[in-house]
Amino acid sequence: MSHLFITGSDTDVGKTFVTAGLTHVLHKNGKKVCPYKPVQSGGEIGETGLEPGDCKFVKNMTDLLLPYDLMNTYCLKEPISPHRAAEKEGVHLVPENILDHYYFLENKFDHVLVEGAGGVVVPLLRNSFYMYDLMKQLGIPAIVVTRTAVGTINHTALTVHYLKSIGIHIKAIIFNGYEGHDYEDDNIKILKDITQIEQIFVLPKVKEFSREKVQEVYEKHLPFDQVLNLLK
Ligand SMILES: Nc1ncnc2c1ncn2[C@@H]1O[C@H](COP(=O)(O)OP(=O)(O)O)[C@@H](O)[C@H]1O
Ligand SMILES: [Mg+2]
Repeated sequence: MSHLFITGSDTDVGKTFVTAGLTHVLHKNGKKVCPYKPVQSGGEIGETGLEPGDCKFVKNMTDLLLPYDLMNTYCLKEPISPHRAAEKEGVHLVPENILDHYYFLENKFDHVLVEGAGGVVVPLLRNSFYMYDLMKQLGIPAIVVTRTAVGTINHTALTVHYLKSIGIHIKAIIFNGYEGHDYEDDNIKILKDITQIEQIFVLPKVKEFSREKVQEVYEKHLPFDQVLNLLK
């Protein structure tokens, strides 16, 4: 079975929103899917203590009933780069623990959707281990989530170029938060030309955040057959 790494051109571009969408579409169509957030910074205090907010969002927007322990390895308090949050909180991030957690999930689920933190060049360990090292070691293809708004051409082109330069295969770009402006269409067109990535998805900016409405958006803009194509 096959698995994906959901990365992005920046923090807050919609990696979690997209992970929830892919999870929903696969789950609804009978696939055993696990969204996996190896390192969450900016955890939230909830009923069970410090909770990984990204996993919570995915659970809220899908019908998935999985425990946080399965979906997340490290949950840090401060909403800053994982390496710094870990340093400040006295947590030693061990990449092997993440890999072991992933191998466990990989054997249990049809599809594991691994969500990064921030973008590609984000340190997990100062001067020694970056998000792209994790991507390389996991050896799974990437999805690049990015904005449609002004500034996206540079951020997206740099992210795609960097991933290609280190040999990471990119299955698709998912443009998120589309509002229908003509300059957004032009940004998408230019990025198709620059990156030559054929599989492109566009998710609109959502105004109503009820589970029902968001699921409708996911089903319309992330068609199951095209999502399955990403996993071939
Ligand atoms: N398509 C969208 N429409 C409206 N709000 C969105 C959309 N995508 C993301 N958001 C909101 O933007 C914020 C950042 O998105 P998130 O998925 O958490 O980004 P990331 O995981 O890349 O940091 C969240 O509050 C999220 O709910
Ligand atoms: Mg996120």
